[in-house]
Amino acid sequence: MNNPRDINPRLTVLNSRALKGLFTKIRDKDTTSVEFVTYSKRLMRLLAEETLAHLPSTPHTITTPTDSKYEGELSIADTHPDKVCVVSVVRAGDSLLESFRDIVPGLRVGKLWIQRNEDSPDKEAIHSCTKLPKNMKDMTSVILCDPMLATGGSSTTALRILVEEYGVEPHRIVFANVVCCPEGLRLLAREFPLVDIITCAVDKELNENKYIVPGLGDYGDRYFNTV
Ligand code: PRP
Ligand code: URA
Ligand code: MG
Repeated sequence: MNNPRDINPRLTVLNSRALKGLFTKIRDKDTTSVEFVTYSKRLMRLLAEETLAHLPSTPHTITTPTDSKYEGELSIADTHPDKVCVVSVVRAGDSLLESFRDIVPGLRVGKLWIQRNEDSPDKEAIHSCTKLPKNMKDMTSVILCDPMLATGGSSTTALRILVEEYGVEPHRIVFANVVCCPEGLRLLAREFPLVDIITCAVDKELNENKYIVPGLGDYGDRYFNTV
């Protein structure tokens, strides 16, 4: 595959040696749902930390126990957690949202109920319910959580609600994702060229059922044991 940043210049692909083993477990069709939860939580923790580090930060010089200075920096999630809203695309996105809340419990939370219609040829996304903080426009950063980016229908539906209905500026949004593919990246680049994307893997393509290949199957079904 060509450089995926040629498709979407806002893309960051996580570069951690730990990902290989974690993906080996969660991509395996013989991995049980209990194991899937364990290994995907480990992976999502890495993704959540990297995403928080991607948010605006400020320099913080501290003193260590050896009376030395350390010139550090802190993400806005650590200094002002109430200025950051983490939004899940229900249902699979809830798993990733909880990884963020495990790290920073004070983050604001929003939820968008969006499901693919698996009976439609294009797997169109259907939005049924929204629960977001009222002051979304005042957030310094909004993290959109969805582990899978396939056709891009679900995430662009979510982004449209955030931007068009709630007035969130696209450059304030970071989309946190476990596995994506060129089709979804292309749609996001076209519709939301200012939204940053942080992913753990860019897979090859979609199959005839619009599932990512090699992929890992239906993330929500495997995580919530509804296979
Ligand atoms: C999955 C996944 C994404 C969407 C990605 O959700 O969690 O939201 O599909 O596909 P797309 O890019 O083609 O829209 P699904 O509709 O299966 O719901 P679930 O989370 O309840 O399993
Ligand atoms: N949703 C998933 O959970 N997996 C895919 O491969 C595509 C959409
Ligand atoms: Mg699903």
